[in-house]
Amino acid sequence: MSSFYIQTYGCQMNVHESEKIAGILRDRGLTACDDVRDADIIVFNTCCVRETAETRVLGHLGRIKSMKKPGAVLAVCGCMTQRREAAEALCKRCPFVDIAVGTFNIHMLGEYIDMFSATGERIIEVWDEPREAREGKPLRDGGVNAWVNIMYGCNNFCTYCIVPYVRGRERCRPIDDIVRDVEELLDSGKKQITLLGQNVNSYKYKDKTFADLLGYLELDRKYRLKFMTSHPKDFSPALAERIAQSKVLSHNLHLPVQSGSDRILAAMNRHYTRSDYLSKVESVRKLVPDIGLSSDIMVGFPTETEADFADTLELVERVEYNNLFTFIYSRRSGTPAAEMPQLDYKTKQARIDRLIKKQFEISKSVADRAVGQTVEVLIAEVKDGKAFGKTESDAAVTLGADGVEQGEFVKVKIVSSVNANLTGEVVK
Ligand code: SAH
Ligand code: SF4
Ligand code: F3S
Repeated sequence: MSSFYIQTYGCQMNVHESEKIAGILRDRGLTACDDVRDADIIVFNTCCVRETAETRVLGHLGRIKSMKKPGAVLAVCGCMTQRREAAEALCKRCPFVDIAVGTFNIHMLGEYIDMFSATGERIIEVWDEPREAREGKPLRDGGVNAWVNIMYGCNNFCTYCIVPYVRGRERCRPIDDIVRDVEELLDSGKKQITLLGQNVNSYKYKDKTFADLLGYLELDRKYRLKFMTSHPKDFSPALAERIAQSKVLSHNLHLPVQSGSDRILAAMNRHYTRSDYLSKVESVRKLVPDIGLSSDIMVGFPTETEADFADTLELVERVEYNNLFTFIYSRRSGTPAAEMPQLDYKTKQARIDRLIKKQFEISKSVADRAVGQTVEVLIAEVKDGKAFGKTESDAAVTLGADGVEQGEFVKVKIVSSVNANLTGEVVK
């Protein structure tokens, strides 16, 4: 066996997990390939946060059957297969799947592949909880950013969400391990580090908090530090001050509000009100005026009325997010919201259309206001005579490639904005 192909679904957490899987396979002497038809080992790292994610996995699996070369090993892992019933149903439906494991034993994929190769017997192994923490060396891409887990799991049990069931309770990594990882990554040339956790604000290691951890990462080097995701209930004034004082923290904040209606927020078990949220936004804007805000919003949560949705639209207008990720509520069996009265699909679809339209107008006007400003851009990619990068507030900018290199921080003047896309010129 010599090559592998990994197909990833879902969030950044999963993208990074795939880098860890790639690390395991690299350590066994395999190399990555771009075409699934050439691969000796195919891994599907799945997501189950919405039904659409699961449908996509099943659809792609169906197609892989005829594409994989004879003898290639097909493994399915991740959030979808962490639900034992789902793993078993998937294996029944797709007899060509050789290995199915959940999220708690992904680190053993190498051993499972060996076992399968030796016996030819299909392996379906799902653990109910994490038994050991093994951190391998991920195989990262050649980009400027590196992901670093600071914690795993989630304790929040938002009533719509499957994540706590498939990722388990919160487990935080030791501060020293995180700092060492970050230093090594910067030594290796990375220019941006994104700390990952379902709710980074509740990071706790011994007596140290997330704000403390960020303090330890104020290294005397030029780099950008980001984190996601922040739960609004735990977003503290200390954290806003930390961003304001920091030399390395990016001026952007992903603070998912989910809904603008107090009644819906309570039904979602989010533990904050609309006015709590708005005052947190106001306090961080006061301390960090150029903060770029982004959010996740879900429409069509059970019982959501037109008035609830109007509250969401109004909040979106009020906050003026730079970027918004919008979702239609998807019923996840086993979660409390699945038992609540559901909305019909047409209503949900019409609401998301209205939300997307509203945000597009806002994104356009936020981008228009950036024209004329001079900002620092981290160049992420140089390709076909163009350079692409992000500002401190996380806005994407395109510029000419002349004299700029990937990984450089450059001063850029924003010269135009077309449909929320910024173009800039390097300031000499
Ligand atoms: N821990 C993060 C988000 C993890 S899931 C947080 O708390 O913000 C990413 C996003 O998917 C969520 O913010 C939510 O907007 C969306 N999501 C989660 N469950 C969903 C469901 N059942 N239907 C639709 N969207 C969902
Ligand atoms: Fe899901 Fe809520 Fe946990 Fe985020 S905080 S992962 S939305 S349960
Ligand atoms: Fe992420 Fe999907 Fe799992 S959003 S945590 S990969 S369910």
